[in-house]
Amino acid sequence: MSSPAPFPPALLDSLRRAVRVVVLTGAGISAESGVPTFRQAQTGLWAQYDPQELATPAAFRRQPQLVWDWYAWRRELVAGVSPNPGHIALASMEAHVPAFTLITQNVDSLHQRAGSRHVIELHGNIARVKCSREERVVETWPATDERPPRCPDCGAFLRPDVVWFGEALPDAALDAASEAAQRADVFLTIGTSGLVQPAASLPLLAADNGAVTVEINIEDTPFSPWMNYTLRGPSGVILPALVASTWPG
Ligand code: OAD
Repeated sequence: MSSPAPFPPALLDSLRRAVRVVVLTGAGISAESGVPTFRQAQTGLWAQYDPQELATPAAFRRQPQLVWDWYAWRRELVAGVSPNPGHIALASMEAHVPAFTLITQNVDSLHQRAGSRHVIELHGNIARVKCSREERVVETWPATDERPPRCPDCGAFLRPDVVWFGEALPDAALDAASEAAQRADVFLTIGTSGLVQPAASLPLLAADNGAVTVEINIEDTPFSPWMNYTLRGPSGVILPALVASTWPG
């Protein structure tokens, strides 16, 4: 892939002068690491399933083993991939900005593995498991062939500690994300389709409060018409170039 076109000087200037930079990422930023996005057709074993139909409490009630197996497959998949240049560029951006907040809808820990320190996880983390009844995080459980395994305390099924469609986001994460969005000088929206609330309202909250807004995506999204800058292309290419152009040397 060739390098992106030069960035507008006013954008670089805004980034350089910003005290508070806030970033919202979605599945697109991990696509170049080999993690399929949610709205991309699945391949192989899981081709016949729609992720949006597996990521619901109703699906887990109906077919707990299927949902557990799908998350187990994704957990293994993300453990086996590496952060890509997009994740790494965001970790380096954090070092240049006085107050940097990274809000992610991803559950794959790739930002943290790339070195990002201040990460707000809106949709949980696939590496954690919790009790489906008491919601408590469970670290270990007796070895079993049963899938899903059961909570060692109450016997209910264990489930991934991620937010499913129709469930509330963790309060503390959503409050911190909303506050950061409202105070942002520059707000970057990266690799998200903007179809899932409440995360999708954060870029507009930032815009309403005066932030300079930037979108990085390979295609148009519902955010695009509202952004000050839309940068078209893979985040693994655009982000390293953006950081290098903003803070050369
Ligand atoms: P989606 O799968 O909806 O969207 C991925 C976005 O990434 C699309 O807009 C793509 O155009 C874009 N994209 C793909 N490859 C890219 C690349 N290399 N560089 C830049 N952009 C790229 O994923 P999300 O928006 O993250 O929630 O989905 C939001 C939520 O819906 C997920 O967190 C998950 C899902 O269902 C829950 O599970 C609750």
